[in-house]
Amino acid sequence: MKRRPFIAGNWKMHLTLAESVRLAQAVAESCAACPDRDVMIAPAFTSLASVCTAVKGSPLLIGAQNIAWEKEGAYTGEISPVMLKDLGVNLAIIGHSERRQIFGEDDAMINRRMHGALNGGIQPILCIGETLADREAGNTFSVLEKQLRHGLNKVSNEQMAQVVLAYEPVWAIGTGKTASKEQAQEVHAFLRQLLANLYEKNIADATRILYGGSVKFDNIDNLMAQPDIDGALVGGAALKAESFDRIVRFR
Ligand code: PGA
Repeated sequence: MKRRPFIAGNWKMHLTLAESVRLAQAVAESCAACPDRDVMIAPAFTSLASVCTAVKGSPLLIGAQNIAWEKEGAYTGEISPVMLKDLGVNLAIIGHSERRQIFGEDDAMINRRMHGALNGGIQPILCIGETLADREAGNTFSVLEKQLRHGLNKVSNEQMAQVVLAYEPVWAIGTGKTASKEQAQEVHAFLRQLLANLYEKNIADATRILYGGSVKFDNIDNLMAQPDIDGALVGGAALKAESFDRIVRFR
């Protein structure tokens, strides 16, 4: 099954408004040069509206770094699917390990966000990943299975066609320590098998599974050569136009 590659940049809590617009315009050029793949950037919420305007008409996809489950209401600090849709945002990152670990988001909340996105016409990127302690204790697969099952609770076959998965081992995020291509492929194949148990086979085959965690210009090609790695979720290396351009142009 041929899946369309997906390269995503997560800008986290970085860049001013002017810096964001400049970088977005540069990424839009990289994206236009590679029509056979999807490219997304997820700026900070403060830059989202301006970035959407700056790249309007470009095939570059815009993501939010999180999403609320209600349309509106007394939810201080949250941004709703309706608000994101209004700007022209296409996708939302959900369950990033920084949300789980620093801000205490649990599987139940992440599942509510998944449904908020799906019901609001925003494609979710569900992030899952084991910690170093999980891996060393031999719990990698059980932890991932739990995160996947809870994250996708009550997500239908039809809705699953909208979902992108991201495997991000917590020990590889921002550490410069990438999972080896064999380690990543092993997990991606495991996740695809799990999806095949939960959904129709064609859905499992079509779901894009991104790898994230210290993806750089010098390891992207090897990662993308793995049969079950369909793309990358990039943090640090997405903050510079040149390094992200090389990642977008993986070979
Ligand atoms: P990193 O972050 O590329 O800086 O390791 C990846 C992520 O958190 O999505």
